[in-house]
Amino acid sequence: MFGKKDPPTLSQERVMKLLEGVSDPLLEKNLIELGMVKDARIDADRVRVGIELPTPAWEPRDLLEQEIRRALSGQIGDRKVDLAFSSQVRASRPLASGPGQNLVPGARNIVLFASGKGGVGKSTVASNVAAALAQMGANVGLLDADIYGPSILTMFGTSEPPTIANDRLRPVHRHGLYLMSIGFVVKPEEAMTWRGPMLNGALIQFLRDVDWGDLDYLILDLPPGTGDVQLTLAQNVKVSGAALVSTPQDVALADVIRAKTMFDKVDIPVLGVIENMSAFECPSCHQVHHIFAHGGASKLADKLGIPVLGEVPIELGVRESGDQGKPEVLVRPESAAAKAFFHIARNIATDLAVKAAKAEASGRIAGRLKIVQ
Ligand SMILES: Nc1ncnc2c1ncn2[C@@H]1O[C@H](COP(=O)(O)OP(=O)(O)OP(=O)(O)O)[C@@H](O)[C@H]1O
Ligand SMILES: [Mg+2]
Repeated sequence: MFGKKDPPTLSQERVMKLLEGVSDPLLEKNLIELGMVKDARIDADRVRVGIELPTPAWEPRDLLEQEIRRALSGQIGDRKVDLAFSSQVRASRPLASGPGQNLVPGARNIVLFASGKGGVGKSTVASNVAAALAQMGANVGLLDADIYGPSILTMFGTSEPPTIANDRLRPVHRHGLYLMSIGFVVKPEEAMTWRGPMLNGALIQFLRDVDWGDLDYLILDLPPGTGDVQLTLAQNVKVSGAALVSTPQDVALADVIRAKTMFDKVDIPVLGVIENMSAFECPSCHQVHHIFAHGGASKLADKLGIPVLGEVPIELGVRESGDQGKPEVLVRPESAAAKAFFHIARNIATDLAVKAAKAEASGRIAGRLKIVQ
């Protein structure tokens, strides 16, 4: 009954066995052990494999795809491989531990974008990284917490006020992500005249009042500096980590050390440094100029024992797209700056996902030990 062209028999067990031969390079276990294989179906003309990644921005995703195709090739007859990726983002830190309260319980991972010095490009980097994560398929919120100079709404081209439902503020949905700005409730010129406790009260109230729903990542754009506002925010949400933005100049880098010291004090992991305005390529002669010097962030990162999350060149398009209300990653995803933003987004999301996997594994071991005792 089988003709010449009928495919050889292939069992699901065999496919699973082959997938067992593929390991994730970062989690250092095979796909079956990791529970990443969600589907393995065999049809006459194809094998469908469903892989669940720990984040849609998983850095080794392309490599995994190659390895899966390599493992199956020559083993499944003439069938094609249909590979479908999905993702499930988990919290990098157990939500019930760490300092402070948790005023944003629906956000699995909260990342602060901070800098000691003003004007280094925090808001630009935070907006683009948030948009890159959303573009890759994550559920992302972006909170402009710069009480003295909110700018995120301009960068996303909206002034639409948030709606109110059940007495809570609903973030504005724009360009694929959820936006909220402290500028909606506190006027920057008023904030300037407030004393510390009043400002802290307003910030805490604001965090409490926003209904984010369920988020994979909440990105917080902080005001520059290492003062009260940063500490209040850091202590009232369960922060997964802070990304420190700097230009390559010595003055900006000195402030990175100050920021790192502050976050260490409040037990917030510093995820790494981002060197913004790292180089300028002349659009006509293509010569690269290091206007603000170059490489300082990488030396400093080495000294502080933290990674460089990425280097973003100076590009006219980055400024223009910011002013025109759409992040560069959505306007020119192929530009060198946009690629750098995607790279930073993948680095941050992957780092958090590895931490989440490790926390889960150690939780499982602790759980087992408890049973044994
Ligand atoms: N890589 C880049 N290339 C070109 N222009 C950039 C780049 N990064 C930031 N800029 C521009 O530099 C200016 C300052 O950037 P941004 O507002 O993001 O800095 P900031 O650190 O958030 O400032 P503040 O401390 O005032 O909040 C903006 O006009 C922005 O468009
Ligand atoms: Mg800013």
